[in-house]
Amino acid sequence: MKIDPKTFEGFNRVITGVVVPRPIAFVSTISPEGVLNVAPYSFFNVVSYNPAMVIISSSRHAGDKRKDTLANIENTGEFVVNIVVDDIAEAMNMTAAEYPAEDSEFDIAGLSPAPSDLVKPPRVAESPVNLECKLNQIITLGEGSHEHGLVIGEVVLVHVRDDIIDGHRIDQQRLKPTGRLAGNMYCHTTDVFEMVRPSYQPDPTQSVTRVPTERYAGPWTSGDTPPCPVGGASEKTIDSGAKTKPRCRTTPGQKLRAIWRVRRVDFRVHFLRLEWMGT
Ligand SMILES: Cc1cc2nc3c(=O)[nH]c(=O)nc-3n(C[C@H](O)[C@H](O)[C@H](O)COP(=O)(O)O)c2cc1C
Repeated sequence: MKIDPKTFEGFNRVITGVVVPRPIAFVSTISPEGVLNVAPYSFFNVVSYNPAMVIISSSRHAGDKRKDTLANIENTGEFVVNIVVDDIAEAMNMTAAEYPAEDSEFDIAGLSPAPSDLVKPPRVAESPVNLECKLNQIITLGEGSHEHGLVIGEVVLVHVRDDIIDGHRIDQQRLKPTGRLAGNMYCHTTDVFEMVRPSYQPDPTQSVTRVPTERYAGPWTSGDTPPCPVGGASEKTIDSGAKTKPRCRTTPGQKLRAIWRVRRVDFRVHFLRLEWMGT
């Protein structure tokens, strides 16, 4: 079957059913009158890290009602993305009804506002990660009842709960982010596996044929030796605490071959120069 997005009835269900799972931004904002708002947005992603930019996309209206999140971001230029994890999935769902602008979803869902450092909208205290954001720009997509505001925001400060950060990494087993599938369907992200990314080897005898995958067993234990893709030996490096991470070490043979490849180019340039001088 081939589907034309312009003519297929209910195409929104097709596209949101195939681009899955999506992370969920629980976006907190404040109205110019001071009403706190929080609502879920799964048209959400990170698009660069220096500068750190995130995007969310909001339809302008839900039926006759204008969406408060988009209006508040337009009016104040600030918002906080709170990451949705399993513990707060139900509270998140409660906030998704089209409540009147003067009602705060923090009260409706029993969530606690925690002060932000650099922006006015509060964070959701129950979320383990909060991204304080300043508006970069809003790009209008579509028109009429289909109009969306694609919000690009710069992350100016990140709050991470101490127990989910492991050195410079976020421990996914502890974070437990919730994924959005189609419609009312969601997924847990607790069945995690690791796949080591291969590196390109110009020497055909070192070509990558198969990269084994391993089920991620949480923080590495001393028994784990994650696979190394191309000839190099595996090594475990002790990180903060008793955790170990995979590292690929170059063997002496690989080092020699790399030196020889560079020298070979040098020799060629040298001989070409001699030939040229001789003519
Ligand atoms: C999990 C989930 C994800 C959602 N993602 C979006 C989205 O990406 N864009 C959007 O316009 N609405 C989305 N919605 C609907 C809004 O959350 C809903 O319209 C909400 O009432 C908007 O609240 P607000 O008016 O306070 O901004 C989503 C709803 C749920 C439950």
